[in-house]
Amino acid sequence: MDLERVKVIDHPMVQHKLSILRNKDTSSKQFRELVSELALFEGYEATRDLPLEKVVIETPICETEALRIGGKKLAVVPILRAGLGMVDGVLELIPAARVGHLGMYRDEETHLPHAYYDKLPSDVAERQVIVVDPMLATGGSAAAALQYLREAGVTGTIKLMVLVAAPEGLETVLAADEDVMIYTCAIDEGLNEAAYIVPGLGDAGDRIFGTK
Ligand code: PRP
Ligand code: URA
Repeated sequence: MDLERVKVIDHPMVQHKLSILRNKDTSSKQFRELVSELALFEGYEATRDLPLEKVVIETPICETEALRIGGKKLAVVPILRAGLGMVDGVLELIPAARVGHLGMYRDEETHLPHAYYDKLPSDVAERQVIVVDPMLATGGSAAAALQYLREAGVTGTIKLMVLVAAPEGLETVLAADEDVMIYTCAIDEGLNEAAYIVPGLGDAGDRIFGTK
């Protein structure tokens, strides 16, 4: 596996919050809050290499050269439903980012993704795209999302932010797209017979929206 394209966020605060997220007794309210907080922390790492440009500004004291984010504008693309839980955290960091949506659900029998909705910013091809989804299990959903974005004209590195990844999902996504960079808070042991991540945190969408 090309681990150069995988960044594990090992910050102690992230690992602490992830453990609370994994606990089956954590309420939906706290789960939602933690997903959002973790997305903010992870977004901090995922934006570490954004280019800067010089600008001249005036402080109350004098004129000076300062730095601001340059380069491509950003788009955040959650994979519905669970990805929605990460959007606010990323937008807190990048308030001007546009948000695109990709609706996908996994067939319970085949574990294959089915796309049911899409709405991307009209200029997505010119943007730096960050895809967000808490879970990377088989990798089918993320790989389909990346393929969809490439077909929509997105070039360059696409950043994929997840909270928990299975090795199988990492392999699949890295093989599916040669210019993806994956950010995750943990690489777990693997998948169970229902293709859920072990130890994982269960069904992220159900836990965020309280649907089970
Ligand atoms: C979950 C999760 C990912 C996908 C991961 O979504 O949010 O999108 O499964 O699994 P994969 O890597 O094997 O494709 P789910 O299909 O449960 O839909 P939901 O977000 O609407 O609950
Ligand atoms: N989707 C989830 O929400 N959890 C998993 O463990 C796998 C897929």
